[in-house]
Amino acid sequence: MSEFVADLKKIKERARSHMENGAVTENYKADLKAVIKVLNEVLATEIVCVLRYKRHYFMAAGINSDGAKAEFLQHAAEEQQHADWIATRITQLNGEPNFNPEGLASRSHSEYAEGTDVISMLKEDLFAERIAIESYSEIMRWLGDNDSTTRKMIADILKEEEEHAEDLKSLLEKMA
Ligand SMILES: [Fe+2]
Ligand SMILES: [Fe+2]
Repeated sequence: MSEFVADLKKIKERARSHMENGAVTENYKADLKAVIKVLNEVLATEIVCVLRYKRHYFMAAGINSDGAKAEFLQHAAEEQQHADWIATRITQLNGEPNFNPEGLASRSHSEYAEGTDVISMLKEDLFAERIAIESYSEIMRWLGDNDSTTRKMIADILKEEEEHAEDLKSLLEKMA
């Protein structure tokens, strides 16, 4: 491994210029506009997931629905946390988080499906989680080393979506 040498004089010059950009320095390698656009799609995806899980929480009824209800509520809270992380990152990148309900469903990668009973709700949620898992994995590959903070955030979210998918799969197996 070669020696790490930083040109501090240049770094300091660059840091001093464009202070109004806050966390975004000239060393930022990704396409900022494109990253903010993708993050707003992820934000919409997470909000749709919150809404879907909330709907399922309130509508799940019948024998054996208690376990699913508790899971729906917990997932809703975690999707909300994901949405908040993403909105925070968008503002760090000097973008604006899009919370406009108009167009929310079309910005989202996953769908809002109501389901008819607990089993179909669990299946719809698993479907949505699997979409999120695929699309977030692709976003991570797309970001590469160009924005490691965003990449790490997406990785943290992805880890939880995989846990959600596993929870739903186990519940479906138990109820089958
Ligand atoms: Fe999420
Ligand atoms: Fe999830």
